[in-house]
Amino acid sequence: MKKQPRSSPRSHRTQRTVSIVGTGSYTPEKRLTNADLTKIVDTSDEWITTRTGIKERRIAAKDEKTSDMASRAALKALEQADVDPKDVDLILVATATPDMLFPATACFVQKKIGSPKAACLDISAACAGFLFGVEIGQQFITSGTHDTVLVIGAEKLSSITNWTDRNTCVLFGDGAGAVVLQHRGRAHGVISTHIGSDGNFTDILYMPGGGSNTPITRDNAHMHLATIHMHGKEVYKQAVTSMLSASKKAMEQAGLTTDDIACVIPHQANLRIIEGIADRLKIPLDRFFVNLDKYGNTSAAAVAMALDEANRSGRIKRGDYVLMVVFGGGLTWASTIVEW
Ligand SMILES: CC(C)(COP(=O)(O)OP(=O)(O)OC[C@H]1O[C@@H](n2cnc3c(N)ncnc32)[C@H](O)[C@@H]1OP(=O)(O)O)[C@@H](O)C(=O)NCCC(=O)NCCS
Repeated sequence: MKKQPRSSPRSHRTQRTVSIVGTGSYTPEKRLTNADLTKIVDTSDEWITTRTGIKERRIAAKDEKTSDMASRAALKALEQADVDPKDVDLILVATATPDMLFPATACFVQKKIGSPKAACLDISAACAGFLFGVEIGQQFITSGTHDTVLVIGAEKLSSITNWTDRNTCVLFGDGAGAVVLQHRGRAHGVISTHIGSDGNFTDILYMPGGGSNTPITRDNAHMHLATIHMHGKEVYKQAVTSMLSASKKAMEQAGLTTDDIACVIPHQANLRIIEGIADRLKIPLDRFFVNLDKYGNTSAAAVAMALDEANRSGRIKRGDYVLMVVFGGGLTWASTIVEW
């Protein structure tokens, strides 16, 4: 018999549950394969495949902005949820590649999809941002402040990629994913969440230029400061540690064990990181949903895109316990268990 999750320790959640009532995603048309990358930097399909599992990634068109991709994913999620864009109360866009530093990308999305009554803000939690958004969104619903929240993860990482740095440029891609959150009884309920950060590691994955610390000037424009900087090995280690602990915390809080989890949707950064987590959690790899071979690491969009693919392909079914777990620069990490 299927185990019932423990009621959340945060009592308000037992009063108003939160469901994911629609998912959507969007990926740009242009594919950049590993073979294409060998023409740009000194790399090989063999190196990229064995170190990361990535085979290709999508690259947005020059005039395609993060808000364009976010809006397309959002409209698909709203359509699936059968929710009119006009009824959205809150739009949260998780992104490290906003259209502009301000206004928020969420405001551009609001205009594009037509949600005049929504409050709009962006979430800056790097690759973990989408699940931070789900947590923030659900707090507004459980508290009764809002009824309908749109949470989007969207990235145009190609715009902050250093295409001369083989250590990073092979890893990332563009795309967007979205969910609609509402209170609709128990179905598709968010039953457990955990978010966390550690500011001691701000220097292992970051973009040094373009903010108030180091504005881009004529003198430093050649230094690639407004691109992703990463210490790969350290990030790798921290990714495994923090996603493991976040997964355990979400299961513990829900009163579930690894045997109860039908599907794990992890951050899509590197297949070896996912294998490391599967091994340590003792969950067979075939219970992990992986699509990074097609899209690379799309940061805040990755789990949102994977969730939509898992949902639409029937990989996750009604009643399944789905564990999503993410990790990103900051450091930031988050986990969410949903009863689908
Ligand atoms: C980046 C990463 C794939 C590198 O793998 P790794 O096992 O640490 O790398 P290795 O030690 O095997 O190889 C490093 C060597 O490969 C070289 N190399 C790096 N990128 C390369 C590429 N694209 N093609 C060929 N060689 C490459 C390096 O220059 C280095 O060479 P050297 O030893 O001569 O200096 C890995 O560290 C990683 O995935 N880190 C986490 C990254 C991540 O997930 N970031 C986002 C988090 S949200």
